[in-house]
Amino acid sequence: MADPTLPRLRLLATGGTIAGAQTSPAQRGYRAAAFSMEALLAAVPQVAALAQLEVEQVAALGSQDMDEATWLKLAARTQAALDDDGIAGAVITHGTDTMEETAFFLNLTVRSEKPVVLVGAMRPATAISADGPMNLYNAIAVAAQPAGRGRGVLVVANDEIHFAREVAKTNTTQVGTFRATHRGLAGLVNAGRLHLYGPPVRRHTWHSEFGLAGVTALPRVEIVYAYAGMGRDLVDAAVRAGARGLVIAGVGDGNVGAAALAACAEAAKAGVAVVRASRTGGGVVERNIEIDDDALGFVAADELNPAKARVLLQLGLTRTREPRALQELFFTY
Ligand code: SIN
Repeated sequence: MADPTLPRLRLLATGGTIAGAQTSPAQRGYRAAAFSMEALLAAVPQVAALAQLEVEQVAALGSQDMDEATWLKLAARTQAALDDDGIAGAVITHGTDTMEETAFFLNLTVRSEKPVVLVGAMRPATAISADGPMNLYNAIAVAAQPAGRGRGVLVVANDEIHFAREVAKTNTTQVGTFRATHRGLAGLVNAGRLHLYGPPVRRHTWHSEFGLAGVTALPRVEIVYAYAGMGRDLVDAAVRAGARGLVIAGVGDGNVGAAALAACAEAAKAGVAVVRASRTGGGVVERNIEIDDDALGFVAADELNPAKARVLLQLGLTRTREPRALQELFFTY
């Protein structure tokens, strides 16, 4: 019987490696989303001392299969949980592969100051030294404490607390995969003890302008990866396929070669939003450095990586197609 004086948290499960099962602990292969949330919690009975937990299974998938329809459902279920006066916060289990995108989407669309914490694991639940149980314990600790409020959506893994906007998965397999590529960590969490650093720098959650009321689908935005010797075919194909926006994962400072640049310019002229991001994994893409964004009607991604630039562009396109207005969004969020 849970202690009724503890904060109530809603646990929204979506799957991922944290719920993954191998056929034997020494095997590398595994099936994501094999365990229920109840089974994961049974591995960390200590969480009963942190919070009263209510479980809701929103999806059961590996996060490579996360999609916009599930984002919309997850955002609605998260909002419903937080709108309940008795609920102190939400914890969302999620695969690590696309966690940064889901976290950023929720950071822009969920309206609440209450803590929302995404958590995953790099090793399946049946692995030797699985990282899921401690990650889950720490995520629940962060969501249960009032100090976790007002920081936007957070990601907890490997004893670190990350801001949704800053976090990126940077390693295929290691438990320290998440890095804050620009502005640093939100804090540390040592066996449930919080050490919080500065607040997030950009607008999020309760003061975001994006709402999902009446939104049943998001505009199609494709990411095109730039490389030496790139032609224009992928840009043209994305436009032909019906993309309303393109994010270029550009070389260096968000650049593309002449042929692809010409295709992007034509796309922008035809009303497709073109955002220049960088494939480098760090740094700022600024306007009008090597490419004349003003003349071509492009948008610079500022600090967002291509995957997050796509999320912001999808939401931005629900409000405007005007490049200057879209650019302001990239300077604001
Ligand atoms: C996934 O993203 O679902 C698989 C990888 C992981 O959770 O670490």
